Amino acid sequence: MSIVDDVIREKLHSHVLLIRQVSEYIINSGGKRLRPALVILSAGAFRYSGKYHYNLAAIVEFIHTATLLHDDVVDESALRRNKETANALFGNAASVLVGDFLYSRAFQMMVEVNNMRVMQILADATNTIAEGEVLQLLNCRDPHVTEENYLQVIRYKTAKLFEAASRLGAVLGNATSDEEEAMAIYGMHLGTAFQLIDDMLDYSGNNQDIGKNLGDDLAEGKPTLPLIYAMREGTSEQAGIIRKAIEDGGKNGFQPVLNVIQQTAALDYAKQCAEAEIATAIASIAFLPDSENKKYLLQLARFAVTRNH
Ligand code: IPE
Ligand code: IPE
Ligand code: MG
Ligand code: MG
Repeated sequence: MSIVDDVIREKLHSHVLLIRQVSEYIINSGGKRLRPALVILSAGAFRYSGKYHYNLAAIVEFIHTATLLHDDVVDESALRRNKETANALFGNAASVLVGDFLYSRAFQMMVEVNNMRVMQILADATNTIAEGEVLQLLNCRDPHVTEENYLQVIRYKTAKLFEAASRLGAVLGNATSDEEEAMAIYGMHLGTAFQLIDDMLDYSGNNQDIGKNLGDDLAEGKPTLPLIYAMREGTSEQAGIIRKAIEDGGKNGFQPVLNVIQQTAALDYAKQCAEAEIATAIASIAFLPDSENKKYLLQLARFAVTRNH
């Protein structure tokens, strides 16, 4: 991972000062680096011995970072990684444009890897993430969004990049097509669980741990699973409170919504869904021979559902 960090730092370079300021600001604020870790571990699980996994790991982190820059503009978020967001500090225009810089730098780096299959996986993943974010935009302030609609959004916007990261390691390691699919399934379910928990933490975490402001999702009128479940299982009065908060957006409805979430045990349901995703992810890599890499892939799966940050 420290080699990945070196690649990230080297490839952030631009002669345009504002690009360096914004990109270094967000990259230096840390982040869990889960997606690059997936690339490295997956390649290691197939005993890959070349050097391209470092580049691919950095590429995946660049794509992730670009989506965060854009996402915080769209979500009007003010806090990320326990710091002011780039949009709060440098403005929306700079965030969007530096996000574009990071996307296109990622594509330059892909060309260097010179592998058409790798290009295809990353181009498809990037495209799907954009579809997910736009689908989510359409769902905002709509209380009729179903659990299935919601799951499609999170598979697209989040899980697809986890899928690509674990698939890429298998591709580098010359896995068979069955093995590659199994790694893709692992990544898809891991990423789905990861976003399910992210959406729970928006109601149950604390700002310090998650490094973001609680209630951002409700402020945007995002119908995430805890809300969908509480509307479905609650009394008509409880459902009405949630429906109105989604339609109105803003921060005012947060406490009443939180009460309904607690009364209906909606977070327990979301957690169970995440646990089921992780069980599928873990089962999918059972075929891997025992190794340190496999051990960490399994730990990563556990972390996705036990994390508070
Ligand atoms: C944040 O992802 C965006 C989501 C998909 C929920 P992470 O929680 O992995 O963000 P960092 O990189 O660790 O800050
Ligand atoms: C994840 O969605 C964003 C992307 C995958 C681009 P969220 O909007 O839930 O992520 P956070 O909570 O802002 O990190
Ligand atoms: Mg967001
Ligand atoms: Mg979130």
